[in-house]
Amino acid sequence: MCGIVGYTGKAQALSPVLEGLRRLEYRGYDSAGIALVVTPGAPLWIEKRAGKLANLEETLGANKPDAHSGIGHTRWATHGGPTDTNAHPHLDNEGKLALIHNGIIENYVELRAELEKRGHVFKSETDTESVVHLLSDARKAHNGDLAAAMREVCSQLRGSFTLLAIHADEPGRIVGARRNSPLVVGVGQGENFLASDVSAFIAYTKHALELGQDEVVDITSSSIVVTDLAGTIITPREYEISWDASAAERGGFPHFMLKEIYEQPKSIADTLIGRTAGLDPEITAGINLEGISKVVIIACGTAYHAGLVGKYAIEKWANIAVDVELASEYRYREPAVDGTTLVIPISQSGETMDTLMAMRYARSHGARVFAVCNTNGSTIPRESDAVLYTHAGPEIAVASTKAFTAQLIAMYLIGLHLGRVRGVVSAELSAEIGQELAELPSKVEQILETVEPLRALTRQFRDSTSMLFLGRNVGYPTALEGALKLKELAYMHAEGFAGGELKHGPIALIDQGTPVIAIMPTSRSPLHEKMASNVMEVKARGAVVIAIGDADLDSAAHNIRIPTSHEFLQPVLAVVPLQVIAYEMAIARGNDVDQPRNLAKSVTVE
Ligand code: F6R
Repeated sequence: MCGIVGYTGKAQALSPVLEGLRRLEYRGYDSAGIALVVTPGAPLWIEKRAGKLANLEETLGANKPDAHSGIGHTRWATHGGPTDTNAHPHLDNEGKLALIHNGIIENYVELRAELEKRGHVFKSETDTESVVHLLSDARKAHNGDLAAAMREVCSQLRGSFTLLAIHADEPGRIVGARRNSPLVVGVGQGENFLASDVSAFIAYTKHALELGQDEVVDITSSSIVVTDLAGTIITPREYEISWDASAAERGGFPHFMLKEIYEQPKSIADTLIGRTAGLDPEITAGINLEGISKVVIIACGTAYHAGLVGKYAIEKWANIAVDVELASEYRYREPAVDGTTLVIPISQSGETMDTLMAMRYARSHGARVFAVCNTNGSTIPRESDAVLYTHAGPEIAVASTKAFTAQLIAMYLIGLHLGRVRGVVSAELSAEIGQELAELPSKVEQILETVEPLRALTRQFRDSTSMLFLGRNVGYPTALEGALKLKELAYMHAEGFAGGELKHGPIALIDQGTPVIAIMPTSRSPLHEKMASNVMEVKARGAVVIAIGDADLDSAAHNIRIPTSHEFLQPVLAVVPLQVIAYEMAIARGNDVDQPRNLAKSVTVE
């Protein structure tokens, strides 16, 4: 939520700042703005516009201010509507200090009242503007030292923030800080970067530094100094980014989402490499997986659905009770957790606030934390005892696709690993599932090669007001995921139900012509027949049934075939047509596929 970028170096700053904003726009697209130090000592150059980055670029036109340092922001609005005035950066009353912010300042009302009393004039309705005025006073008190001022100000703030500030009297210097929101440093040659994530500067450098909680970073083109809020110097962890700029580009596809759907054979294979026979000791070194009494998976949205699938596999293979919790519910209800609980937070971004807070709660009560995450250097893995990274590569489209299938793979790998640690997975089962997992990339490839007719079929339902998804066993969370994708992308009412629950209420929703997507359990499963009966029940009430399965169902109006697999692995295959349906429906209804309305990737506020 909100993308932040800063550049200082020999190049014209506008170009890397704009480039960074383009790559971070998935984090929010309510407004965009840039501040540059064009004339040292004079008020800053600033331009900001409501709406997508394209609006700002149009305003800029051929205007290329000569500056070598600057900051840029793309916003997902929280406090104050998406207007030009509320857009970041925000300025102090002299127009010489600019600040951008991701997060929420919880005590902004009292700060604002106090600052207004001191004569500061506010222009916006944002929580952020209080911080720029506070910083302005603190900088004066610290004889023009922006980093010292930032440390003091951060100590007075409540809430979550990534902050970046520049001052016209200190050209070439950018000061940043973070608490519960992401900020990484890109280390270049004669230039340095600050950003919400590495995609912003991947075209310039692959060398990055991780920043910890409550740390302040002070950069120029040739120096990087990190301190805690007391001013003590910290040595940040360095890492190399393993993917390149092309991974964060569309590569000939009309949308990132379609590219990411088609990348799944690779992202699944990459997540599996070297792991089917057991997790690398390097991964599990920091965590004791013996003597665990229960597993709690915590996640949000699509990652939560991956956790629900994980429950079936982990309970069965590792013979241990698994609860799957929505992080936003878990964190506020004081759940029972102790040192024998294994908590598995699942997060693509590694920054989702609810997941992070739920995990911190569990940790503070002694739980062991084994994260599943796609983003190196992010907060959730940094605060976990161990982490299984999914290797999906950067996911840019707001709707999650390849990260979901990679999270499913992580669930299977953890289920098998725990089963081995607990001595309940036989060598035969291990070999059988290992083989089935290895076959998934080519099976997904097969689906993608035959998916074209599904696009025309989807368009037939363009004007439907609602679409229902049915599944049983692991098909149930798959149905939930199919419905979530359709809601996000098509802005259409969609719900997922467990087939066995239909008669307990939801069947009343079925009317003449209601499209129902049935995820058929694999033909090897005893549940196949049960689900076939559910299909008959909805068909008898007028539903048009589209069945997804490994065998044609005579009672369905349309059949979408997927290869046969082990029953627990089927969601990896069945979700692919569901992703394509949501994608195609968004296009058919004229919606923005990669940046659906009201959403942002990486939900770093509550
Ligand atoms: C849906 C989607 C969201 C995320 C959720 C968790 O397509 O992308 O539901 O899955 O916000 O995000 P992460 O995995 O980054 O914690």
